[in-house]
Amino acid sequence: MEKLLEVSSLTAGYGDGPAILDGAHLSVEPGKIHCIIGPNGAGKSTLLKAICGMLKIRKGDVKFKGQSLKGLRPDQVLRKGICFVPQERALFPKMTVRENLRMGGFSLADKSGLEKRIDEIEERFPILRERRDQHAGTMSGGQQQTLAMARTLIIKPDIVMLDEPSLGLAPKIVAEMFDIMRLMAGEGITILLVEQNALTGLKNADWGVVLDLGRTLFEGPADEVLSDPRIQELYLGGKKAA
Ligand SMILES: Nc1ncnc2c1ncn2[C@@H]1O[C@H](COP(=O)(O)OP(=O)(O)OP(=O)(O)O)[C@@H](O)[C@H]1O
Ligand SMILES: [Mg+2]
Repeated sequence: MEKLLEVSSLTAGYGDGPAILDGAHLSVEPGKIHCIIGPNGAGKSTLLKAICGMLKIRKGDVKFKGQSLKGLRPDQVLRKGICFVPQERALFPKMTVRENLRMGGFSLADKSGLEKRIDEIEERFPILRERRDQHAGTMSGGQQQTLAMARTLIIKPDIVMLDEPSLGLAPKIVAEMFDIMRLMAGEGITILLVEQNALTGLKNADWGVVLDLGRTLFEGPADEVLSDPRIQELYLGGKKAA
């Protein structure tokens, strides 16, 4: 089966600086949740940035539906259907919830169906309808993350990439965020997430990727990653998966 997204032997870095990624690879299958784990500074965020066009691909390739994304700008990658939610969520804090949803459609050439699409999204996420006139910056962390994820749906993306969506959220809210991801995956939207809490991330994912020192050390079914004794030792704090 052809992969939806295929990262191979990727080398990338910031400006003229050293290579941060050097030998990263990743295979992404449609409608599945993929979780990238690895220690601080491993290059996890850098990998998502390289996929979405924020960093130049120096060597290797990123292929989406069989076509190289090399040389494309972030807005062009977005238009192809790959949406990136950075760690800081990139909401407009002084704009209302509804206005933030509208901004999600910024890249759409045809905006005629935009308001209807926003209505549909409000329907699915009642909290966003309830808070539609509230400034995004005054919402709780979980509500802001919900908004950031819901906003990606405006463009009907193929892939949503999330950098540390659970950061700073209480466990119950983290579980809700994974429910939303599962829902999105159930609709055929492929999720690629970076998760600091490796155990939680992998338990909720179908596919796991271990990145360290800019290289992919392992990728495979999430339960295999969880049960690998060496990965447990090095990256899961020695904890056995429950
Ligand atoms: N804008 C930047 N300019 C130069 N170097 C950077 C930049 N952003 C990150 N780096 C460097 O790239 C390396 C990988 O960083 P990255 O943010 O991708 O790690 P990470 O795996 O996401 O870590 P964390 O778990 O802490 O988020 C680090 O050495 C970091 O200092
Ligand atoms: Mg990071």
